Amino acid sequence: MCGITGYIGSRDAYPIVIKGLQRLEYRGYDSAGIMVYDGEKANVFKTKGKVADLEAIVTEANKKGTISIGHTRWATHGVPNDVNSHPHVSNSGNLTIVHNGIIENYDKIKKELVTRGYIFHSDTDSEVLVNLIEEVQKQEKCKLAKAVQLALNDVVGAYAIAVFDINDPKKIIAAKLGSPLAIGIGENNEEFFIASDASPFIEYTKNAIYLEDEELAVIKIGKEVEVRKVHDDSAVNPEVHALDLDLSQIEKEGFDHFMLKEIYEQPKAIKDTYRGRLLPNEGIIRMAGVEEYIERFKSADRIIIIACGTSWHAGLVAEYLFEDIARIPVEVEYASEFRYRNPIITERDVVIAISQSGETADSLAAIKMAKANGAYVFGVCNVVGSSIARESHSGAYTHAGPEIGVASTKAFTTQITLLTLIALKLGKEKGKISNSDFHAYLQNMELIPSKVEKLLEQDAKIKEIAAGFLETPSCLFLGRGYNFPVALEGALKLKEISYIHAEGYPAAEMKHGPIALIEDGYPVIVIAINKGHYDKVVSNIQEIKSRKGKIIAIVTEGDVIVKEMADHVIEIPEVDEALSPLLTTIPLQLLSYHVAVLRGCNVDQPRNLAKSVTVE
Ligand code: M6R
Repeated sequence: MCGITGYIGSRDAYPIVIKGLQRLEYRGYDSAGIMVYDGEKANVFKTKGKVADLEAIVTEANKKGTISIGHTRWATHGVPNDVNSHPHVSNSGNLTIVHNGIIENYDKIKKELVTRGYIFHSDTDSEVLVNLIEEVQKQEKCKLAKAVQLALNDVVGAYAIAVFDINDPKKIIAAKLGSPLAIGIGENNEEFFIASDASPFIEYTKNAIYLEDEELAVIKIGKEVEVRKVHDDSAVNPEVHALDLDLSQIEKEGFDHFMLKEIYEQPKAIKDTYRGRLLPNEGIIRMAGVEEYIERFKSADRIIIIACGTSWHAGLVAEYLFEDIARIPVEVEYASEFRYRNPIITERDVVIAISQSGETADSLAAIKMAKANGAYVFGVCNVVGSSIARESHSGAYTHAGPEIGVASTKAFTTQITLLTLIALKLGKEKGKISNSDFHAYLQNMELIPSKVEKLLEQDAKIKEIAAGFLETPSCLFLGRGYNFPVALEGALKLKEISYIHAEGYPAAEMKHGPIALIEDGYPVIVIAINKGHYDKVVSNIQEIKSRKGKIIAIVTEGDVIVKEMADHVIEIPEVDEALSPLLTTIPLQLLSYHVAVLRGCNVDQPRNLAKSVTVE
């Protein structure tokens, strides 16, 4: 949560940092701020609201300068207001900081600093940190880098920071623990970019260093980036990565919203996920991360899946896949619950951690706990080089490309694609799936992208259905078997972007409570494809109909029974039940999207949310 960015070089820094903040806004958008150093003064502007609100308050005269740091915030300490916004300035006015993370022991440090005469203007932990650095600098009479290092050794928590000292204005100090930080390196070290991810600087350089936890970087014009360990000051030789990201991937390219673009990218994203892995002609699935640890997988007593939000729903789909196809017992856990409930973990457990961002704090902590108890951890991440990817013993990337809309769409379907490949591979290795079924699945998987394309053609029809939701206060999503998690995901999507209360339920559970909600016109979205327990779902639909509920049904092409009962149907192409979540999800994404747009909601940046939840 929160995005930080910065520039030091010879170009005008303001437009670079503002554009960078716009690209990082998915990380938090309740306030924004910038510092531009004009050669004499560090001019700071900050405000509650979005980057656009910030742009409106920066005066032309104060946009000049070649050094700048900026911040877009998701509030942790202190309400989102102007004062709590970053950057924060130290009491002397010399130091400026932008910070992503949480300093847990800030209160204790603040009290100590207050006794030494420091005055605080905000409620934030970050203002405490910048003043702690100032105090260390004063006490130790040292340079900024040393002061930052010593101060960071006194704090407990997580941070990605950029600090600027007006008395040493040719450098920026950056450091990281828990929160991500990338440094873009310009030609001949003449300029540098700092950011929470590489998106703010991809048009300027393809070379970047990703700081590891507890690393501090001295970023100085004309010099190589000097990286040291925070705890013992030892020198580190950082790896310079070649960035594999282009501008089109992070721009809307004619779509009204990133979410819509990402929904439409799914045929390609799914293909990118299985490319080089799914080899129907050779009759194999190739996955290095699984093969390397195949004996751990094969001898596992069980698989524990840990994740949050949409990724947790992908984990639930995987539970059906692994148990059905590979006959391995599976438990699916919310990372936040798992890490705090003293779970039983053994060396015979395989833990699969699923995370789009690879930075979710609870998932990361759960992985560390599982590893400490001897489990083998396999990471399923989208963001390359992310913390979870690095913390896992092995893993596989989904290769969905950047997902910028806060509501996860292509991340979900690509996670399911990857997990399906793993389940099939393990089913084959363990002899739990017949050769003919295995080959049929390989071939049918390859057909999924074109079937998704076909489904997307129903967009206009789904938009019409969405119009019926304008005044809806609440609705239900029902599914069974493989499509129960899809119902949960449909409900999450709708509530997070349209603010309509929605609940996902296994269709058969409706009689145990939620049916009490049904009255004339109450909308129920039912996944009723012709596989699995079709007849039972039909009975559930009848129960809703007899209470005058309104049915929006996802059915298989050619269905006649449900069509007669439902108010609206959306048809999906014929598909195996195990692969059906890859299709049934698509209309639910489009439905949520259109409902949110019609209700005038901010689809890509829903209230109170952030894309990557790096605090617990
Ligand atoms: O990056 P992660 O997959 O670990 O994120 C997990 C959740 O925060 C995320 O899926 C969240 O629920 C989305 N906003 C859902 O659309």
